[in-house]
Amino acid sequence: MKIASIASSSESIENIKDILEKNGSQDQYVFLQRRDLEIAPERVDLFSTNILILDAEKITKADLRAISTITKDNPNPAVIFATGECDQQQTIDLMRSGVSEIISFPVRSTELLDAIERLRARRYINTSYHARGKILSFLSSKGGSGATFIAANLGYSLANDCQQKVLLIDLHMQFGDAAIYLTETPGKSTLTDIISQTGLDSSVIASSTIRIDGNYYVLQAPDSPEKASGITPQHIDNLLSVAIQDYDYVIMDLPRVVDAISMKVLDRSDKIYLVMQPVIPYIRAASKLLRLFSLLGYELGKISVISNRTNSDNAISKNDVEASIQKPIDWEFHNEFQNCNESSNSGVPIIKLEPNCEFSKTLFDLAKNISGSKAEVSRPKSFFSKLFS
Ligand SMILES: Nc1ncnc2c1ncn2[C@@H]1O[C@H](COP(=O)(O)OP(=O)(O)OP(=O)(O)O)[C@@H](O)[C@H]1O
Ligand SMILES: [Mg+2]
Repeated sequence: MKIASIASSSESIENIKDILEKNGSQDQYVFLQRRDLEIAPERVDLFSTNILILDAEKITKADLRAISTITKDNPNPAVIFATGECDQQQTIDLMRSGVSEIISFPVRSTELLDAIERLRARRYINTSYHARGKILSFLSSKGGSGATFIAANLGYSLANDCQQKVLLIDLHMQFGDAAIYLTETPGKSTLTDIISQTGLDSSVIASSTIRIDGNYYVLQAPDSPEKASGITPQHIDNLLSVAIQDYDYVIMDLPRVVDAISMKVLDRSDKIYLVMQPVIPYIRAASKLLRLFSLLGYELGKISVISNRTNSDNAISKNDVEASIQKPIDWEFHNEFQNCNESSNSGVPIIKLEPNCEFSKTLFDLAKNISGSKAEVSRPKSFFSKLFS
């Protein structure tokens, strides 16, 4: 690979040079310093450069513009940016400009070399496969909206009713519970098993997932927050790149708080389902998330709003909710405490347990809408229809 570095000072060039040359890889290097504080990338042959390393104590608008131009016009290079400051807004800005990896400044050896290795692995993935599947993300506007329950059961319907190969990934880094909605015996393997492996391919994913039924697989969240601490956005990015080669749908069950990992997932999602309930705290939280999505530049069509636990007694009408969040509600799930509760407690998917209930019907319509499937659900016949058939 060809790796170029445009550093902010002569000390920084020496530091990066020292780190890369001591690493002893077969890579080819180019070392330059900024010109009058500017990156001035025209001095590098960007077309033949695979990785560009930039650094700056502080992030400036001029740097963001320069990086956008580099990443917009060239398939190469992937940009690593080292900076001394990076809050949430700055992470968004750097990602938006096309930076692939953000590391700390002054550059530290292991951080830089790890970032290079991740990019090396990802470039291999990018050039050697064609994506098969779609990424669907679910997040609740506020705790307990029903996002995990809907995501987990939707996966079941996509796999069973619509004959799709589905992987559900639970990204609740603190005490994920998606699997317990689907099985009584979730088993031990989790996301941590994948991240600890050096090479990632579909067999590694397959060996770390649990099989729910037929074509439906679940990758559980780490079983303790400490085990989740080493997981980075890049790990999840690589995991998605591999997973979409092998599955028709990768369903991401996201935590409510948007951090660097979930932002990476949201960016890569083909569709985001925001799950809320028609009550004030959920509506407020949904409005805030919709504003964040607009800040992140997502088109409205990428986002679907699901209103869960609706019933005829809801004090706030559908129209009022839509006016308040300024977006139409795309799907409504009825409040069905008994069926949902029974399914949650037993670990049996609701479509299997109560295929004829309103919740299951809406779920099936959503699965058909997503997959374009014409599948008709084979529901058990009622007592009366059995008598007359
Ligand atoms: N339409 C519904 N009617 C009645 N109960 C429901 C409905 N949808 C979900 N539930 C119940 O709500 C409970 C909480 O749902 P879930 O775990 O999916 O919430 P969540 O939005 O993922 O929460 P968190 O933010 O904690 O991840 C589940 O046990 C489920 O039984
Ligand atoms: Mg959840």
